[in-house]
Amino acid sequence: MRLLLLFLCGALTAASARRTFGIDYENNCFLKDGQPYRYISGTIHYFRVPAKYWEDRLLKMRALGCNAVQTYVMWWWHEPIQGHYSFSGSVNITRFLTIANRLGLDVVLRIGPYSDAEQDMGGFPAWTLKERGIHYRSSDPRYTQLVKTWWAKLLPMIKPFLYTNGGPVIMVQVENEYGSWNPIDKNYTSWLLSLAQSHLGNDILYFTTDGTQAEMVKGGHIEGAYASVDFGSGLDEKAVGDSFKIQRIVSPRGKHH
Ligand SMILES: *[C@@H]1O[C@H](CO)[C@@H](O)[C@H](O)[C@H]1NC(C)=O
Ligand SMILES: *[C@@H]1O[C@H](CO)[C@@H](O)[C@H](O)[C@H]1NC(C)=O
Repeated sequence: MRLLLLFLCGALTAASARRTFGIDYENNCFLKDGQPYRYISGTIHYFRVPAKYWEDRLLKMRALGCNAVQTYVMWWWHEPIQGHYSFSGSVNITRFLTIANRLGLDVVLRIGPYSDAEQDMGGFPAWTLKERGIHYRSSDPRYTQLVKTWWAKLLPMIKPFLYTNGGPVIMVQVENEYGSWNPIDKNYTSWLLSLAQSHLGNDILYFTTDGTQAEMVKGGHIEGAYASVDFGSGLDEKAVGDSFKIQRIVSPRGKHH
């Protein structure tokens, strides 16, 4: 009996040691626990859905054939007043991640701090405007200091939910379509990636997403993060192929996003 238990423990340790997610650049595919892997993801923004419906919506996503869910983290929901954080109710992101994990959905997490124009100011809290003349999305210390404080709060909460730590988060997106921004500040984006790495470590796949123009993918790409592209769902097959050709300028190998 004792021997059997030891074997079981050994097997469990080996299994947890195998929790890895990354890219096989030779064979152009994802690798999950060392095996070729494909995910099909839709998007549910947790902050737009009342928390009591999360489980229902995620279950429906599974039923749809998805094995992953993607969401932004919208800064302003979590820090509506400077230094006053909110992670309860419909912005309890750790609860959302817990449910996704329980339902067997991988999570593709887009941590911003800028999260697209889908909400006002890309999710930057309105109070950040009190910093007169602040240069958003740049190396401006007035801006980077705010990001530092925000991520010091957010990312330690995310860390236990990384795939390597037993959670559902397989990929983390840094910034968002930064190649569409002007002026491009590469010093800012490489600083941002190191900031994410200082909290979340290096055992996780970081990526960038940009629009499908050569200048965009080049401008948004951060050394050390996988460059991907995004485009609308209405594209025909040729347009989709053309979009991925643009991605190949910066990511000659590896998995399409
Ligand atoms: C988030 O949800 C979890 C699980 O329901 C709960 O234990 C935790 O207290 C919630 N967090 C906040 C800040 O309300
Ligand atoms: C690069 O970014 C860091 C962090 O924001 C900043 O301290 C440094 O001054 C920046 N350097 C340049 C050349 O912008």
